Amino acid sequence: MTRPVPINEPVKLSKHKYIMSRTDTKGVIEFGNDYFFEISGYSAKELMGKPHNVIRHPDMPKVIFKLMWDRLKMGKNIYAVVKNLAKDGRYYWVTTKFEIKKHPVENEIVGYMAYRQAAPASAIETMSTLYADLLEIEKTAGLKASEKYLIGYLDAKHMTYDEFIDDVIGNKGAMKMFFAAMAKLFGSKA
Ligand SMILES: Cc1cc2nc3c(=O)[nH]c(=O)nc-3n(C[C@H](O)[C@H](O)[C@H](O)COP(=O)(O)O)c2cc1C
Repeated sequence: MTRPVPINEPVKLSKHKYIMSRTDTKGVIEFGNDYFFEISGYSAKELMGKPHNVIRHPDMPKVIFKLMWDRLKMGKNIYAVVKNLAKDGRYYWVTTKFEIKKHPVENEIVGYMAYRQAAPASAIETMSTLYADLLEIEKTAGLKASEKYLIGYLDAKHMTYDEFIDDVIGNKGAMKMFFAAMAKLFGSKA
């Protein structure tokens, strides 16, 4: 699949709709809701069975996905603010809850889910600055250096990553209820 050339134009997201996708344990797309395909610009046929990095935006630093994968592999859920790349090159910012999916009987991880909602403007502002710094560090000094920078950034705020992200996305009240409802709907634990 050829990679779209990014253009500096947003895809408009509805505040009332969510984007959902499910992957296997390697991040290969197994399912998506209609809004996932509508916003990404791809058909279900084009995305099903493809690695999820097909919608990866080059403005996303590697360290955020490393953090996410490390957490999921440990069996823990994680929130992240993600800039994605649509088929026509436009971008869209989403607040994403990544969740593990366990086998109901055997209890091992069988895949992952992602629930996404339009990211608040304030979150986009904070994260685009942080991500630009992390990306620059990755280009010049590598992944270890950007990981170190992220740790220092959080230390300076006296926050863990989870506390920081909750603060940035306003993850309380309505937002928490939204993600809990999504988890209920699709049968995974909130
Ligand atoms: C359930 C799930 C959903 C994902 N959703 C996205 C997504 O929306 N955008 C994205 O860039 N990566 C997403 N990823 C992460 C990708 O699998 C991949 O790690 C990331 O795009 C970085 O690509 P790279 O490993 O080729 O650098 C998702 C992973 C999982 C498990």
